[in-house]
Amino acid sequence: MLRRAFFRCVASVGALAMVGLGSAGAQEPPRLRPKEHYTVGFSQPGSASPWRRAQLDSIRAEAIKRGDQLIYTDAGGSADKQVADVNALIAQGVDLIFLAPRDEKLLIPAVMAAKSAGIPVILLDRTVNPSLAQAGRDYVTFIGSDFVEQGRRTAEALTKATNGNARIVQLEGLPGSSPANGRRKGFEDFIQAHRDMTLVASQPADFERAKGQQVTEALLRVHPDASAIFAHNDEMAIGAMTALEAVGRTPGKDVIVVSVDGTRTALQAIIDGKLLATVETNPRFGPVAFATMARYARGEPIEPWVVITDRFFDKTNAAQFLDSAY
Ligand code: AHR
Repeated sequence: MLRRAFFRCVASVGALAMVGLGSAGAQEPPRLRPKEHYTVGFSQPGSASPWRRAQLDSIRAEAIKRGDQLIYTDAGGSADKQVADVNALIAQGVDLIFLAPRDEKLLIPAVMAAKSAGIPVILLDRTVNPSLAQAGRDYVTFIGSDFVEQGRRTAEALTKATNGNARIVQLEGLPGSSPANGRRKGFEDFIQAHRDMTLVASQPADFERAKGQQVTEALLRVHPDASAIFAHNDEMAIGAMTALEAVGRTPGKDVIVVSVDGTRTALQAIIDGKLLATVETNPRFGPVAFATMARYARGEPIEPWVVITDRFFDKTNAAQFLDSAY
């Protein structure tokens, strides 16, 4: 009698535990219970750029404003470390994870581990490969820019400024990351329709200023007749401009440079006549990220992609936005 009661009790505890846990095969992401204050994890791929610092400041400020606790992890540029970081956030029992995945594929195990543990994930600024994980099923949503459109807009600006005739070097962002893949596609698709817009070289410089400089130096030796540079972000564009000046070529005159992000340094370079234009990637995710989390907790349907609308900065408006830039 006593023995039967004991087994009934064990069985119901097991069933209760199952309710709280997610499952990798579930057709929707784990739910988020409405609470006054949350403990939220934020996993960043790295923090060594003005863009990443601005993003972290924004997330921190919003967490403080709402009285939520933020547990922050910095993967230092390693996808393996970022997977371990997400596992550590899961082990700490956070309510939800904001994840900026360094790589479209390598972070899939982290997304699925959170799902299995019953912790909802919101992807910020970078997304994952949709054939491997899907919004509304494996994670809540992706909040970020349209990277293909960013590439298309830079190509359009460059084509206009060069009268459709340029020998272009492309500095790609980190291989395997969604912004690098999308920007390259948008840019290349656009210039393919313009016969004299020729891509003479395309090489990764990992979104880093120093690598942007090194790769440009190397590519200029092979292609001294390059007349334009498309950098997938401002940091690499700044590096490229330094490389151009080192070999006596004037950015903005001898070589037209265009990029993406909208940092303060880039806006100053536009004002100085060195950079043609930059398409914004707004790093200030705090308000939209936490507002989306609150909507999700209230049980509202969340769109699979919360699209961030990007501005376009060139010589007509760079001075106007300089003071508010990061
Ligand atoms: O994911 C957003 C991109 O990541 C930014 O455009 C880039 O500068 C950063 O490294």
